[in-house]
Amino acid sequence: LTAAGLTTAAALSRRPAVTGAELRSAVPLPPPFRLPLPLPRVLRPVSPGRYEITQRVADIEILPGIPTPMWTYDGTFPGPTIESRRGRPITVTHRNELPVPTVVHLHGGRTPAGSDGYPTDLVLPAGWTADHHTMPDPRAVRTRLTRGYTFPLDQRPALLWYHDHRMDFTAPALWRGLAGLHIVRDDAEEALGLPSGARELPLLIADRAFAADGSLDYPSLDGTLRDRPGVRESFRGGVLGDVILVNGVPWPVHEVDAARYRLRVLNASNARHYELEAVTDDQRRLPLVQVGADQGLLAAPVTHATLPIGPAERYDVVVDFADVPVGGRVRLLNRLGTGRTAEVLAFRVARRARDDSRVPAVLSADLPSWDRPVRVRDFSFRTGRTAGGHGWLVDGRPFDPARTDVTVSFGDVEVWRLVADVHHPVHLHLAGFRVLSRGGRPPLPHDAGLKDTVSLRPGEAAEIITRFDGYRGRYLFHCHNAEHEDMGMMANLDIT
Ligand code: C2O
Ligand code: CU
Repeated sequence: LTAAGLTTAAALSRRPAVTGAELRSAVPLPPPFRLPLPLPRVLRPVSPGRYEITQRVADIEILPGIPTPMWTYDGTFPGPTIESRRGRPITVTHRNELPVPTVVHLHGGRTPAGSDGYPTDLVLPAGWTADHHTMPDPRAVRTRLTRGYTFPLDQRPALLWYHDHRMDFTAPALWRGLAGLHIVRDDAEEALGLPSGARELPLLIADRAFAADGSLDYPSLDGTLRDRPGVRESFRGGVLGDVILVNGVPWPVHEVDAARYRLRVLNASNARHYELEAVTDDQRRLPLVQVGADQGLLAAPVTHATLPIGPAERYDVVVDFADVPVGGRVRLLNRLGTGRTAEVLAFRVARRARDDSRVPAVLSADLPSWDRPVRVRDFSFRTGRTAGGHGWLVDGRPFDPARTDVTVSFGDVEVWRLVADVHHPVHLHLAGFRVLSRGGRPPLPHDAGLKDTVSLRPGEAAEIITRFDGYRGRYLFHCHNAEHEDMGMMANLDIT
């Protein structure tokens, strides 16, 4: 990309956007808890450790009988799930057949910088050269370009996810479908006896809104999306939809045994925060027994009545349906929603069944914790004025790929104090961290374990601690409200 190309792209998408208004779908929506919950297909390697994914437009039937054109990984939404083993490297080759450049990032991956999906390391579609931002001239089409990403996966087993990360255009790409799961496993975790097989359910939760023709509604200026002046300004909190999808289906239902289930929950929404609770027909709350965080198992289980989850966060939770009567229903609800956005998913208990699973009192002994930081740094995540207008800023500056914002020394332990003006889920690439404090107090119960995204509430400050090791190079930290990110709330971190 030329500097001019970047500037144009930035100027387009950094116009004032934005207060938490929600897009209204213009199509009839299905009743809740009727459509079955699908599980994303697990991707087969083309040879051991080698995967291929084609990014392409596909019509996806999200709403019954209505095709929705989406940008997909391999023709499905969510994209196919990659299942890998700790310490066994894989390569994933992405081919871009979409009408726009893309970037792939493995969120939560301990990945060398060259494969981390830096926002200007593009996978170009046919007909694009690196210096223009217009639709390709069909006569210029020569080759379709691919890019190989290498993931060492030398990291704790965890639910990761891959998604688009192109500079200034991550939010519309994510909204249009570029997201998939990646599960890292290892023997130690499998030996614990947590619910597994059909009783382990990956749940990718994301909100969307639909235009009258069934397409996804998005108030964006991206050249291939419809311009919606006037709507944009009402989305200061990011873009919210009125339909809650789980694994790509609106408000699905899943038949379960009266037994323990392991729910591996990802909030893949652009901007929506949820507070989940599991409620029975007689209005009882089932305990949510958290066994893992963004970066894998906790040291010991933590039981929650409700669980807040910000964009990009993951929670690994065991729910026991044993004392729900057969035929009964447990609804996973969102306490932060109103009307239909307060509903997420239902489980229908179909039968009594044997349960050999367990939730051990000790889950993992390799959880890193650090002390003796060599440095404490402060970072603010605030909106404000910039030369170019309104900005979503880290320490008063919008993202600039040409500027180094922080340099850390390889191997150093640091404490970062993060402060937010409104809700900002802050994500750090490469390095998992522990939350040390929140609002000057001890962390909240759901801050347990090793995280890569911490959801700061309005006006809140949090301290995190980490060690910068693994790889050297340029990495990112940013707000994972995808609209805030695109508006510039992102910074460069060089590990040297
Ligand atoms: Cu999930 Cu920098 O991203
Ligand atoms: Cu934000």
